[in-house]
Amino acid sequence: MTEHRFLPALIDEASHPFRSGGHFAYHYARGKLSSDCIFRELLRRGLVTDRRRFLDLGCGQGSLFAWLLAANRLYAAGNWPADWPAPPRPESLRGYELMDRDVARAARAFGEDHPVVAIRQGDMCDVDFGEVDVVTILDALHYIDHQRQNDVLRRIRAALPAGGIFLTRVGDAGAGLPYHLCNWLDHAVTFVRGHRLPALYGRRLSDWVDLLRQLDFTVDSVPMSEGKPFANVMLTCRVPDRTG
Ligand SMILES: C[S@@+](CC[C@H](N)C(=O)[O-])C[C@H]1O[C@@H](n2cnc3c(N)ncnc32)[C@H](O)[C@@H]1O
Repeated sequence: MTEHRFLPALIDEASHPFRSGGHFAYHYARGKLSSDCIFRELLRRGLVTDRRRFLDLGCGQGSLFAWLLAANRLYAAGNWPADWPAPPRPESLRGYELMDRDVARAARAFGEDHPVVAIRQGDMCDVDFGEVDVVTILDALHYIDHQRQNDVLRRIRAALPAGGIFLTRVGDAGAGLPYHLCNWLDHAVTFVRGHRLPALYGRRLSDWVDLLRQLDFTVDSVPMSEGKPFANVMLTCRVPDRTG
């Protein structure tokens, strides 16, 4: 199976649960999963293979979890690109999201008592992270101020074991126009989604990386704006495993 033929099947499978959440939920999921390269790259690069316990902060309606579960089903059915690593087999997919409307859409998509998925209303600045193997924050860190970012990142580091992964996407505030373009769009979308016009708290890429290294993560950064004129970067932050 080639990636080219496989991806439409994965997008169909991952979007399907959102049909029960209504027109918006379904088309939002489809649009997001088909146009945003980070979902594909997460699997293709095997970044979370062999991880079991996931926490997604600012998870929206749970598109990432639907993607991981769909990947699992297709892999189990033998429908998987020959050159991709196996997807993770999650035991626990926990998410926190500020907006009630997204949480309600997630509940309709996954059901209230899903054996693996639990998406709850909560502010990432307050909720208990528990113990997890992977933490993700996709395009949500810049909604909280720098002091809160520092605190959330410190608590993420504490929640992860040796070998644990924190995956995030941030904008590079040092990148000029592409960064500002993304922020303008973000303001508009966030306003339409029912937030007050938000202040956004960016940092230069080098400052993100320095901050994460100070917390004793190893950090890889890779541009993650494919097809869009933005300055988005995926940061893969690993907790060093010094046991072996
Ligand atoms: C750009 S959306 C991304 C949603 C999701 N991560 C995705 O990739 O589809 C950012 C999300 O973060 C949520 N958010 C913002 N601040 C938050 C906070 N302090 N705690 C939890 N969620 C937050 C917003 O409500 C929004 O749903």
